[in-house]
Amino acid sequence: MKKPLTATVSWVGKVDWQLERFHGDEYSTHKGSTYNSYVIEEGKTVLVDTVWKPFAKEFVDNLESEGLLAKLDAVIAQHAEIDHSGSLPELLKRRPDLPVYCTANGVKSLKGHYHQDWDFRVVKTGDEFDLGNGKKLVFVEAPMLHWPDSMFSYMTGDAILFSNDAFGQHLATEKLFNDLVDQDELFVECIKYYANILTPFSAQVKAKIEQVLALKLPLSMIATSHGVIWRDNPAQIVMKYMEWSQNYQEDRVTILYDTMWEGTRSLAEAMARGISDASPSTTVVAHCLSKFDKNDALTDVFRSKAILLGSPTINKGILTAMSGTLEELKGLRFKGKKAAAFGCYGWSGESVPILTESLKSSGFQLVDDGFKAMWNPDDATMQSAYEYGKAFAGKLAGG
Ligand code: FEO
Repeated sequence: MKKPLTATVSWVGKVDWQLERFHGDEYSTHKGSTYNSYVIEEGKTVLVDTVWKPFAKEFVDNLESEGLLAKLDAVIAQHAEIDHSGSLPELLKRRPDLPVYCTANGVKSLKGHYHQDWDFRVVKTGDEFDLGNGKKLVFVEAPMLHWPDSMFSYMTGDAILFSNDAFGQHLATEKLFNDLVDQDELFVECIKYYANILTPFSAQVKAKIEQVLALKLPLSMIATSHGVIWRDNPAQIVMKYMEWSQNYQEDRVTILYDTMWEGTRSLAEAMARGISDASPSTTVVAHCLSKFDKNDALTDVFRSKAILLGSPTINKGILTAMSGTLEELKGLRFKGKKAAAFGCYGWSGESVPILTESLKSSGFQLVDDGFKAMWNPDDATMQSAYEYGKAFAGKLAGG
């Protein structure tokens, strides 16, 4: 139901406590999510974004029971992905006269999803919507944050930036604001969101933030489309995004592997010990991909200066949990990270060259040709894996 941000701006979104997977099955949401929609009640009454389709009736019924549905003068569709546009068909069925403000790419995306000729009003960067009472919404196109159609809307007077996906996080909470939630939990979800969704668009993120900062606009709140609203020091998440958008890395090494009979697992653990012994300040994590959450693993890759990928050879190839991860690593286009591969094999031994080639084509800097172990590692091989880990750490220290 309606929750106030200011005297004239309210949240009218949906808290989705039950959500466990997002983007189909691609993104784990351990903490659920929210679909944030806002209503501005000035001289004009304007809705900013809607909520995901399964909640469309509930959403529009709520607008009606709050006396807002009949009052609306316009809807701003900042992004056509269905978690934000999914209630437009229900809304516009009940208010077919309502104009829909969006970017030119927004029209394409919305028509592509819903095949409707709504009353689209195309806006571009710098265009304004007069809210009355001396206030206005200023639109800023934000392509690839997160789709080509995305845009921000800045409300003058109240100094609220409606940022849609940017600066959001998948966190279900009844507490509306960033200062009211557990800070560790909040930033875990923020960095996971950036790592898994925005990494490929880091150049656009940096450029857009620089463009908006150059305007030197006052900023009281950033009202995102997922999770909390940033009202306490909203610049903090902007600065985090600047940091994350510039080939972010910590003193961390992530080992991702899968294993059939524990041989490749043994190598991973020996290498982790070797890295840690050679470089005690470095945090090493090792995750078995068939058991560990894929998106949390990718967040660890995002935070790392280097990664090791391990798989045994099967059918002249690699294990399937690793294949999916290679696809993710290719798509996310991490930059400035070093890498190598390892794995056990019985006779043909293709896994390490396959992993090495994939790392190379995904933009990782290979430190060597990797580490192969025939059959199950014996004591000597385990010692070699440990030494390999130590040497790997040494190569990272070399810059
Ligand atoms: Fe939350 Fe790109 O949609």
